[in-house]
Amino acid sequence: MAIKHFLQLADFTLDEFNYVMERARIIKRKFKEYQIYHPLLDRTLVMVFEKNSTRTRLSFEAGMHQLGGAAIYLNTRDSQLGRGEPVEDAGQVMSRMCDIIMIRTFGQDIIERFAAHSRVPVINGLTNEHHPCQVFADVFTYIEHRGSIAGKKVAWVGDANNMLYSWLQAAQIFDFHLNISTPKGYEVDLSRVPKEQTNYTLFDNPSDACEGVSLVNTDVWTSMGYEAENQARLKAFDGWIVDQAKMSRALPDALFMHCLPAHRGEEVSAEVIDGPQSVVWDEAENRLHIQKALLEYLV
Ligand code: CP
Repeated sequence: MAIKHFLQLADFTLDEFNYVMERARIIKRKFKEYQIYHPLLDRTLVMVFEKNSTRTRLSFEAGMHQLGGAAIYLNTRDSQLGRGEPVEDAGQVMSRMCDIIMIRTFGQDIIERFAAHSRVPVINGLTNEHHPCQVFADVFTYIEHRGSIAGKKVAWVGDANNMLYSWLQAAQIFDFHLNISTPKGYEVDLSRVPKEQTNYTLFDNPSDACEGVSLVNTDVWTSMGYEAENQARLKAFDGWIVDQAKMSRALPDALFMHCLPAHRGEEVSAEVIDGPQSVVWDEAENRLHIQKALLEYLV
């Protein structure tokens, strides 16, 4: 039987997402009521981090523990990873010693090659191309607050990064429209968008992209791995801050999301991220609940 991986949102059907979200609601309720729930007793998650993390590590490690299992953290500094061992060999070896693997790495090709040689499910904890766990938690958070996202308009304000490409896949799966505004030089690579996908609009002006939307999304301007370009980015992104003026172009009940960490005064004003339309803390917490349901489903 083929092993089910979660390397990008397109790996799951809408039915699978709906199932996992229903499980996440149940698992979240149990967590809030301090109920012991150990479906993954004696199971082991291996977490491989080639890039740093706060939320992803914490949510997977705490989540696996809460489900009764154990989580093992590996990084490239304290292991043989990154010292020339072929990724295919790592996939073979690691998957013989655990029940599920989460990887945060640079290239999507790396995680795909690893998964092709793994005997257990592999979850993408962020690559340069996709961040499926985050966007899945974001969609779940939107639905918690406002009901179905189908038919809604969502704005992306920022560069075309891994989050945006996952939002593009989410638009296809959950049937909403994405307004995308990217600064010059940081536009969407249309070769990465399926030709048949039409439910998005490209904007030069970030305020216009926010017009009439139900959700405004942004992300840090200096993503991991691009720190050297920081000054050039700050210049190019001038005017792209999500502030109250942009939020006021959205629908009155629009939400604001940011996957965090955030830089107040750069990509978002303090007034917006700390204001009544912001759901960033729920969004961060829901990484835990969605990923617990994902672990349960895949294991
Ligand atoms: N949003 C997110 O993935 O956060 P971390 O980089 O802290 O894991």
